[in-house]
Amino acid sequence: MRLFYAIFLPEEVKRALVQAQERVARYKGWKEVAPHQLHLTLLFLGERPEEDLEDLLALGYRLGRLHPPFTARIRGTGYFPNEGTPRVWFAKAEGEGFAPLAEGLREGVRELLGEEALLAGGDKPFKPHITLARRKAPAPRVPPVVFGVEWPVAEFALVRSELKPKGPVYTILEKFPLRGDHGREQEESAGKRSQNH
Ligand code: 2AM
Repeated sequence: MRLFYAIFLPEEVKRALVQAQERVARYKGWKEVAPHQLHLTLLFLGERPEEDLEDLLALGYRLGRLHPPFTARIRGTGYFPNEGTPRVWFAKAEGEGFAPLAEGLREGVRELLGEEALLAGGDKPFKPHITLARRKAPAPRVPPVVFGVEWPVAEFALVRSELKPKGPVYTILEKFPLRGDHGREQEESAGKRSQNH
């Protein structure tokens, strides 16, 4: 199954993004991402055998325990791969938790499933973004949109993607809360140990 780890968005953030998508709606060449599908990919895994699921779920929970919730912001838009012949129009996200989480997932997947499992995602550096629309045929670029949205990121998910004729269908397989309490757990158990002695 085709899998990726991602962060989904609260309603008010989706509303702001949907409003921005109106800019490309009039051009046939641009295909907007449906509101409920809007997400930020942390790590794309591509096609994986079902037997990998157990490890991928365990990794999600482990990283959720390690990483605390954080505030995310969206300020503007950009194009991939470049301004000249864009394929993707995206909203840029910022937040101190994105990179450590994405890096933790990469490291974890490398340890559990081997380097080969990272090939699907390509070797481009991680850039937190939310794809707003994909260009399927020649269509003009639209001017940048400026946002002022902020939201608390308190969980991430392992997602299945099924490629259908009308576009991908995403199913959240599991959500992992960000707790960042791993250190606290260790301190607590160390505390208990010293109380017992
Ligand atoms: P994108 O939005 O920039 O296209 C599911 O396909 C998610 O995984 C999308 O958010 C997509 O990013 C991301 N992704 C990253 N690398 C990918 C790849 N090589 N093929 C397909 N999707 C990829």
